[in-house]
Amino acid sequence: MVYDHKIYLIGATGNIGRPLVRKLLSNPKVSLTLFARSPAKVQEIYGNQPAGKLQIVQGDHENLKPFEDSIAGHTRLFLLIQANSFKNSERIVRSFAEKAYASGIQQVVLISGICTNMSWRSNVIAEAGYNWENAVNSIPNRRAFVTLRPAYFMSNQLGTDALSIKSSNKIIDTRGLESPKAWISPNDIGELAAIILQEPIEKHEDAVYDMVGDPKTPKEHAEILSRVLGREIVYEKVTDEQCYDMMTKQAGMPHALAYTMLYLSKELEYDHVSPGLSVLLGRQPETLEQWIEKNKNSFL
Ligand SMILES: NC(=O)c1ccc[n+]([C@@H]2O[C@H](COP(=O)([O-])OP(=O)(O)OC[C@H]3O[C@@H](n4cnc5c(N)ncnc54)[C@H](OP(=O)(O)O)[C@@H]3O)[C@@H](O)[C@H]2O)c1
Repeated sequence: MVYDHKIYLIGATGNIGRPLVRKLLSNPKVSLTLFARSPAKVQEIYGNQPAGKLQIVQGDHENLKPFEDSIAGHTRLFLLIQANSFKNSERIVRSFAEKAYASGIQQVVLISGICTNMSWRSNVIAEAGYNWENAVNSIPNRRAFVTLRPAYFMSNQLGTDALSIKSSNKIIDTRGLESPKAWISPNDIGELAAIILQEPIEKHEDAVYDMVGDPKTPKEHAEILSRVLGREIVYEKVTDEQCYDMMTKQAGMPHALAYTMLYLSKELEYDHVSPGLSVLLGRQPETLEQWIEKNKNSFL
């Protein structure tokens, strides 16, 4: 089988990667190369594909040699970095993008974050987002560069709310009962990335797309959970000190991140869906309720 377009993906086995890759695999004109730490995991997720449809390159953020050896011949790159250290991650983003453009890549689609909209160095996540985007944006003679800036992933609930719901039928946060949290479904992020990677490069050029899909207050969130799970889930508002202790002592989160999460719960407030998101997706964004319904078993 001959494919018209070869797309290279880094970080495509997780929350965003799965819907993204599944969408791209359904395009008969496209073949994919996945850069991943575990080929066995890729095989398990995406199964057997027709010959040449899905190539796997085993590699790690810390060793770009397999990437350098395999990037030639691709036209587009999806770039998602899972940062252990924000400083180090800027170097990684730049290295992948530089090597990609040098090999002839025409478009890079980067996953950044909504905090990048916040004021200069207001918090470490905002600064990391700015540095990642600047690392690609400042590459001399680069080609197209599209940035997705998603807000809070609905999948974050699996590592936080699902645990407190299972143990005590409650969700816990510091935000006010009526203070909206800017949720986005990772399915929408993956789908928008897939759309951009298949549409004409000139259409999106150097676009930056905010992604807030369904802002909901803690009150609304608890009501949705109660409705979907069929039992009462309540919201417990805790102090900054209590929340910080939970994040650092119970969950092992480093200080900088825990402090930033507290900061964002007050300073990052969106009460509306990102304008134009439905135009980009060609449908309404997935709601928090729809996402919880699909993932109901994780909360039971
Ligand atoms: N969570 C949020 O609310 C939020 C909000 C805004 C932006 N973001 C951004 O969204 C991204 C996370 O997306 P996600 O939820 O889809 O992530 P995820 O589910 O955790 O998946 C992470 C992906 O990165 C790969 N990966 C991790 N460490 C790697 C390494 N050392 N070398 C090579 N590959 C590695 C993983 O591959 P393996 O299969 O090898 O594990 C996987 O494909 C991050 O960039 C984060 O900053 C998150």
